[in-house]
Amino acid sequence: MAVRFDPTGPLRGSLRPPPDKSISHRAALIAAMGEGETTIEGYLDSADTRSTLDAVQACGAEVEGVGPVGVEPELRVRGVGLRGAGDAEIDVGNAGTLLRLLPGWLAGQPEGRWKLDGDDSIRRRPVDRVAEPLRRMGAEVRCREGRLPPLEIEAAELHGIEYPMPIASAQVKSCLLFAGLLAEGPTWVGEPLRSRDHTERMLAAAGADVIWINGGVQVRPTKRLEPGHLVVPSDFSSAAFFLVAALLVPGSEVVLEGVGANPTRTGLLGVLRRMGAEIEVEPLGGARGGEPAARISVRSAALRGTEVAGAEIPLSIDELPLVALAACFAEGETTIRDAGELRRKESNRVATTCEALNALGGSAEETDDGMRIEGSDGLRGGTVRSHGDHRIAMLAAVAGLASVEGVEVDGMGAAAVSYPGFERDLASLSAVPRP
Ligand code: S3P
Repeated sequence: MAVRFDPTGPLRGSLRPPPDKSISHRAALIAAMGEGETTIEGYLDSADTRSTLDAVQACGAEVEGVGPVGVEPELRVRGVGLRGAGDAEIDVGNAGTLLRLLPGWLAGQPEGRWKLDGDDSIRRRPVDRVAEPLRRMGAEVRCREGRLPPLEIEAAELHGIEYPMPIASAQVKSCLLFAGLLAEGPTWVGEPLRSRDHTERMLAAAGADVIWINGGVQVRPTKRLEPGHLVVPSDFSSAAFFLVAALLVPGSEVVLEGVGANPTRTGLLGVLRRMGAEIEVEPLGGARGGEPAARISVRSAALRGTEVAGAEIPLSIDELPLVALAACFAEGETTIRDAGELRRKESNRVATTCEALNALGGSAEETDDGMRIEGSDGLRGGTVRSHGDHRIAMLAAVAGLASVEGVEVDGMGAAAVSYPGFERDLASLSAVPRP
């Protein structure tokens, strides 16, 4: 599906982006592991998070309250308990988070066997990063060519380990914490750099013994989880598209409501501020469900180039393509380093971001672990292929609004993976065509 995004006049208005994808996946999984009924307020309705609901149902959990596509329901999930997942063949679709998190829970079950597979993009995404430490815990896990899906898991008795992660990954950490709930003895996962901590927050709120210690997270074996009521804030990673759109389209002023403001997710704010952005973050009271939320206001600004590396990378990993887009409109050079992981997302995002920006008249160069972007007066326009990657599709749409001639996005349908209403919401802010 090809869709055109024309240059627009100032973006104005306020918007509540859809619920957080990362937190929704975790909410469904932890509710399935829980005792009795858990309610989830504001579960994201998207292709990825529907895959997670299908997966937990395949394992025996009961889910009620799923309404029409695009309407966020309050879900009721009747869990099977920590040790009650039934045998299943699971299609994870395009959902990398589901692919990496679910095996941690399944590997430590008292009995059963499972197979996880997904779409073409999933079949290229490495799972050895979870399979290998799970095996060290005693798990029975097999994957294709030793590193790719499908993934086959057989129930086994697990024991806790100390695992310093070679690369900061919230997915690997979360998988091992789930396994640690079922293992004998404590499990410690060391983080070379802090990554998103939604799993730790949600497990602790559900009664698990999870602590931050010695530069990592430790979990102890747990008898039962009681999540009760979970609340999902708006997705910072979805809000990020509007943040950058408002920065780039002259005269814009946009307010984003109820956005998740967990500091392990909001690294983009620091990067954009360094580039010259003025962004106001007004915390909203009472971090419901352990996750802080905020009202974020942004207006267009002149930008300068910057360097992004080290500890900032995991805190802004999914927003780095947007940093590269902003860099095309900034004065001077921007470099992104230490971001080799970007090559292993829904697409090789170092390659697909550079391809998109260059197709529109930008100057972006791939490096081994990131990219270098030469700033200019912005982007001319043209055609971008999404490569089936939701974040590349939405990045190209934003580029279209800020471009001189407009952008045609080939494969815009991919946005439904995390944000089915994206085009409608973007249009609601850009009602006035550029004169
Ligand atoms: C995610 C963690 C990140 C991120 C992905 C979602 C999660 O991946 O890129 O979109 O929900 O835990 P890594 O933890 O593998 O870096």
